[in-house]
Amino acid sequence: MGLEKIDQLAREWLEEAGNRIFMALEQANIEVEAKSDRNDLVTNVDKSTERYFAEKIAENFPEHRLLGEEGYGEEITSLEGIVWVLDPIDGTVNFVEQKRNFAISLGIYQEGVGELAYIYDIVGGEFYFAKRGEGAFVNDVEIPKLAKNNKLEDSLVIINTASVRKFPHMLPVIQAARGLRLYGAATLEYMAVATGRADAYVSANLSPWDIGAGKIIAEEVGAIVTRVDGSEMLITEKGDSFVASPGVHAEILRDYSR
Ligand code: IPD
Ligand code: CA
Ligand code: CA
Repeated sequence: MGLEKIDQLAREWLEEAGNRIFMALEQANIEVEAKSDRNDLVTNVDKSTERYFAEKIAENFPEHRLLGEEGYGEEITSLEGIVWVLDPIDGTVNFVEQKRNFAISLGIYQEGVGELAYIYDIVGGEFYFAKRGEGAFVNDVEIPKLAKNNKLEDSLVIINTASVRKFPHMLPVIQAARGLRLYGAATLEYMAVATGRADAYVSANLSPWDIGAGKIIAEEVGAIVTRVDGSEMLITEKGDSFVASPGVHAEILRDYSR
């Protein structure tokens, strides 16, 4: 079965999942639990959204695998075959506290190559999509390619306190930039860079589902995605992440490395 059928069904399921999440918010039907610590939250809606995708994928594509945050997929360390990388709600703290600024994130990889990506900001009404080699879009409008020579002094950067604690050399980056912005959802932070609303996003610790879709969309518009030290970032491995427009990525690595 080709990517066209996968794309068609992925869109249908995202729309349905988005409607269900919207209804759960309207009905205030949200049960919250803490996972590893009091700020690492999961809700009944995160779980039911991932379960919905797990069932749909198993029914329609039994040979595909799911790599998802809430454990309805498989333990996956390599990307053979077709793998759906899903974060059912990225930004769960925002979902619980703000009822906005969260997204469903879905990246589809074939033999390790990111082919299709979707980030659905349900309350913000923004549906980001990319198909490898065919451009990236928000609500069907093509996202322009990023400028290659932006400078840090003219840029907004997204770097949270945990990242500055782990990478103290990022403090002077914040001081040199035009300003600091924080959204609290890695996927939307990736999309801020992809759409030019910010020029760099540094995070100390992301998981495959946080970056599976964002990396595909960001790279499609020419953003550079690496680890903080500039080395290759494999999406199957948890770790730090550094995405930026090309000029700002090069400037930070050149002038602000440890
Ligand atoms: C989290 C968010 C947050 C990032 C964390 C992620 P979740 O995802 O993307 O912005 O700083 O590292 O775990 O738990 O809301 O899906
Ligand atoms: Ca996440
Ligand atoms: Ca999540």
